[in-house]
Amino acid sequence: MSSSVYSKYRAAFAQALATALGVPAADIEAQVKPAEPTHGDLSFATFPLAKAQKKAPPAIAAGLAQTLSVPGLEIKAVGPYVNARFMAMPFTAEVLDTARAAGPRYGGDSDVGKGKTVTIDYSSPNIAKPIGFHHIRTTFLGHCIANIYRALGWRVEGINYLGDWGKQFGLVAVGFQEYGDPARIEDMGHLVEVYVKANARAKAEPEFDEKARDFFRRMEAGDAEALKLWNQFRETSIRGFKVIYQRMGIEFEHIEGESRYQGKMDAVIEQIAQKPGVKESQGALIVDMPYAENEPPVLLKKNDGSTLYATRDLAAAEDRYERFHFEKSLYVVAQDQALHFRQLFRTLTEMGQPWAERCVHVAFGRIHGMSTRKGQVVQLNDVLDEAKERAAAKVKENIEAGRLTTDDPEKLAEQIGLGAIAFGDLKHKRASDYNFDWDEVLSIEGHTGIYLQYAHARVVNVLRKGGGAPASYDASLLTLPEEQALVREIMRLPEVVLDAAEQYEPSLVARLLLDVAASLSRYYTLGNQDRTKRILAEDDALRSARLALADSARVTLAAGLTLLGIPTPENM
Ligand code: ARG
Repeated sequence: MSSSVYSKYRAAFAQALATALGVPAADIEAQVKPAEPTHGDLSFATFPLAKAQKKAPPAIAAGLAQTLSVPGLEIKAVGPYVNARFMAMPFTAEVLDTARAAGPRYGGDSDVGKGKTVTIDYSSPNIAKPIGFHHIRTTFLGHCIANIYRALGWRVEGINYLGDWGKQFGLVAVGFQEYGDPARIEDMGHLVEVYVKANARAKAEPEFDEKARDFFRRMEAGDAEALKLWNQFRETSIRGFKVIYQRMGIEFEHIEGESRYQGKMDAVIEQIAQKPGVKESQGALIVDMPYAENEPPVLLKKNDGSTLYATRDLAAAEDRYERFHFEKSLYVVAQDQALHFRQLFRTLTEMGQPWAERCVHVAFGRIHGMSTRKGQVVQLNDVLDEAKERAAAKVKENIEAGRLTTDDPEKLAEQIGLGAIAFGDLKHKRASDYNFDWDEVLSIEGHTGIYLQYAHARVVNVLRKGGGAPASYDASLLTLPEEQALVREIMRLPEVVLDAAEQYEPSLVARLLLDVAASLSRYYTLGNQDRTKRILAEDDALRSARLALADSARVTLAAGLTLLGIPTPENM
């Protein structure tokens, strides 16, 4: 796929400026910024030139504006800025044609990531433990980031790095002997119950805790019986998780986990011993490097000889590099683990791994106030169930009021519920915390998934009423300011997708979709007030052009929602 309409004009404008100034275009391109909407589309500030040219910026801008000529751009000086505005034509036709030709792939660009691999560690829940709030965020964020990178032509290796090794396993195992029902060993919910009880007991009773540690030591020593039980729990959990992923439309390239590195710990410790060095502290093994004040050292082995999360992550990082030769290695994990990742990457650097700097902790904030009717321990599946239930009530209400017809209300409720939770999460900047509120995420008027799904279904409906999207049309008829505004929102998707990839920030896509929907809604309102401005205009040529615009908006909403992992029902 070729570059976006926006980047094409930006490059042409930068090239013209560069030629006039006698400097390389690459130097100018980064200085071309979006203009104040009332002043144009692109803007170049002349302040930095004032010194060398010994002229006031407005005079420089005026001089440049007079000499520059770029097809399709109207160039004007505004004070110290040289501004360019996209002429209605061919710009409008280019945007619509690009969007419509790309269809579901609009916003992607398979050249950007060509030949490059990114590993994305996301979701990564712990086996036999409840899927907590942080797993909800990593699952939605990671899925979306994976979709975005895939759309940009990267080879994506999505890794679900299960927490399937460690002392908590011992807890589940010894807990199962006390509270477990062998007939329910394949019931994920039961294992979670057992874990919760065992965990509470271990906190109160040191002997019980010791039994759990002992069980894990047996696992690390390769005890067949212990491993057999562990494997049963693991399989049960994976089966349970898969149901959720299927529901969310997530497919991992790899479902593996910490246990993959059992038996490989000594080799890693050996390697560390050669570079940064390893030393003993109170019977435990730690990495021998200077630590920032108040920073604990990286623990490699406890005094009882068992290994740790960090040890396994070191082995996993190396393994990922050996297997995938990644250009980037992302870890979509809660902000709470920032210290862990800082130390992990630093240890890798000290070990002399040049690719350590390609590793990125894509951190995110907390969700506050998320609870379900089932109670305190929030599980992703329960959240989705409740979202579906609440959506179903809305669907039913709308069907009864004659506002909605659907042949599958249950499926629609599932799609709306999933969209509510996903968008409710992804619209927030990932680094910030947010408060979860059921009424808010399911409100039709707010910045919500259901609002966007509805905007999409509504435009599908308009197209249907208009006899479908036209093959040929005259884009020069789209002269209303509301139409030009919508064209500009549609234009932005490819740029926004690039920014979202660079910043690992799905909220940028989420916000653009809200802008598209708002722009579309202003356009409908206009038509309701003035018949001549309706999309389904009486004049054939006008109607075709407007339907092509509506179709491009549909494509943008559908492609964007799909990137966010949100279903796009056609009727609602
Ligand atoms: N299982 C961990 C947790 O639930 C997250 C793992 C993240 N990935 C990693 N490579 N450490 O907290």
